[in-house]
Amino acid sequence: MSTFSFLLEGLRNIRTTGTFTRSSPALCRAAIDRIDFAKAKVIVELGAGDGVITRYILDRLGKDGKVIAFEVSPDLCDDMRAIGDPRLVVAQDSAENIRKYLDQIGADLADHVVSAIPFAALPEALGKSIVEAAKTNLRPGGCYNQVHYSLKTKSYYEAAFGQVDAHRVWANLPPAWVLYCKKEV
Ligand SMILES: C[S@@+](CC[C@H](N)C(=O)[O-])C[C@H]1O[C@@H](n2cnc3c(N)ncnc32)[C@H](O)[C@@H]1O
Repeated sequence: MSTFSFLLEGLRNIRTTGTFTRSSPALCRAAIDRIDFAKAKVIVELGAGDGVITRYILDRLGKDGKVIAFEVSPDLCDDMRAIGDPRLVVAQDSAENIRKYLDQIGADLADHVVSAIPFAALPEALGKSIVEAAKTNLRPGGCYNQVHYSLKTKSYYEAAFGQVDAHRVWANLPPAWVLYCKKEV
């Protein structure tokens, strides 16, 4: 999808996209930089858009890895399918249904979760249920990394994971945050 088409998608569905621009290269790298790709096999991505962060994950993931990428927009899911990587499972579904897609690939848990879901724009109950599903289906010791433009919903991750490490990424329009959480072992 072109930058212009992404802008149109944002204009049509701002309540679910939460933005008019996709993540910059610096933000994509920051979203995944605490993942140990030497060991990671199953990565779940929430709010994958047209796959801008997904491509960075696939670049670093081993040949036998899998990425389950959740996205509710059918057009953006088509863009991800066009990536054409057999390690990518496009879940055209809402992110609270993580369990169903882990079962489909025969995985017990996700090793790591990367999310860019705009929780500040979603109903609180839905947002909290997505974060809870992510935590339940995350392997102990695994990361939950959340991309955001504000710290408005930081309490969701504190309630689920305890410690949240907020890192500012200036090289993005607008400047963003990555909130790093870890599931206790
Ligand atoms: C801020 S955009 C991020 C897109 C891309 N990952 C990036 O970093 O540029 C958030 C995406 O989350 C998707 N989204 C919103 N609610 C969702 C939900 N409940 N389940 C899955 N995806 C959702 C939107 O359609 C949108 O594409």
